[in-house]
Amino acid sequence: MWGGRFSSGPDAIMEEINASIDFDKALYRQDIAASKAHADMLAKQGIIAADDATSIARGLDTILSEIEGGKFTFQRALEDIHMNVESRLTELIGPAAGRLHTARSRNDQVATDFRLWMRDTIDTLDAALAGYQKALAEKALEHADTVMPGFTHLQTAQPVTFGHHLLAYVEMAARDRGRFADARKRLNESPLGSGALAGTSFDLDREMTAKALGFTRPTANSLDAVSDRDFVMETLAAAAIASVHLSRLAEEIVIWTSPLVGLVKLSDKFTTGSSMMPQKRNPDAAELVRAKTGRIIGALTGILVVMKGLPLAYAKDMQEDKEGAMDALSALSLAVAAMAGMVTDLTPDTAKMRKAAGEGYATATDLADWLVRALKLPFREAHHVTGRIVAKASEQGVPLHRLPLAAMQAIEPRITDDVFSVLSVDRSVKSRVSYGGTAPKNVRAQAKRWLKRLDQER
Ligand code: ARG
Repeated sequence: MWGGRFSSGPDAIMEEINASIDFDKALYRQDIAASKAHADMLAKQGIIAADDATSIARGLDTILSEIEGGKFTFQRALEDIHMNVESRLTELIGPAAGRLHTARSRNDQVATDFRLWMRDTIDTLDAALAGYQKALAEKALEHADTVMPGFTHLQTAQPVTFGHHLLAYVEMAARDRGRFADARKRLNESPLGSGALAGTSFDLDREMTAKALGFTRPTANSLDAVSDRDFVMETLAAAAIASVHLSRLAEEIVIWTSPLVGLVKLSDKFTTGSSMMPQKRNPDAAELVRAKTGRIIGALTGILVVMKGLPLAYAKDMQEDKEGAMDALSALSLAVAAMAGMVTDLTPDTAKMRKAAGEGYATATDLADWLVRALKLPFREAHHVTGRIVAKASEQGVPLHRLPLAAMQAIEPRITDDVFSVLSVDRSVKSRVSYGGTAPKNVRAQAKRWLKRLDQER
């Protein structure tokens, strides 16, 4: 394609380092769509003849069905998807194929193709994240009353509901989707017509190609259009954050399913056995979701480092934008699917959760709050009194609600037996009615709100 001023072919190792077809063939659909839009526009502007544009479009359609039917031979010698398609087009329609590349460079072509690909990928991921949210919200509704220990520092802190805990991840996923939507909005400008770097002397209608490809508008600076990959960075940043969120839940599943903890069970569908230890039920899927985060963050780091020292405009370094991004986004899509599957699959051991919620003096804050409300103690003093009561209970080896009233009165004489009304875990969660709090009635309302919202989105 570019051999005019060359007298010999490339060295084998040159070809190997240069070729991107092994991974950029994933852009075939976008490449063909962009070429069709470009040819159409060239014809409308009188830059190429209408019948040439028609045979170009027909040829491109044939290539599309050849690729989709697995009948297309990709060639490394042709470097990338753009030249593979154009070369086949020449075989199919002859010299008219040579007119397609008028007023176009592979630089604006690849920037266009990859933005289109990114947009499609974001749309698929968004739908998958919505499915994950739905799985969480459904499980949350089912477990709006299921009491579990809430932790800070992984130490028993206060009782919460399992539904509330799951809804926390619905909120995170909502922000993840927001970040992808923001990235999508910003990347949705058409580089096509920017040429190699400077624009072109042909009278193009860039609005027309932008519109045909579903872009909001053409990019306003040709140098910027062919040489920035911030849309890759931004999408991968969103992906990295989303994967960190998934990884935290994955880690919780690993903890919860450990026999030492045993708060949650996964069915055979989401566990694996050990080849040596017959008793094992390993949460491999959760561990792999946790691990995928590494390569997703790696891809973000990769593109940031590739770009940081590049002068304007295009440099071949940018070809390295694709493999990492494609790998990372497919890893994320698999991780989302696996998490949605595990969330639906998991069963909490509600009895064990309730029991664990009552251990570790989880209702100590409720006792302190009672002292504030009933005895009008300042909270700091109530905190201190409660601390002494907890120490006494611990000394006697009993939970707070089993400590005799007299023992409490020895520390604060004004305590009455009304105090026992706040010491159960159920009373505790029921009382957390502040907006965003863990009370079952809040959780039910929030879970329903999410399910309705997710349903309306579709
Ligand atoms: N395969 C190339 C890439 O991904 C396409 C652009 C090539 N442009 C060039 N000037 N060599 O970046």
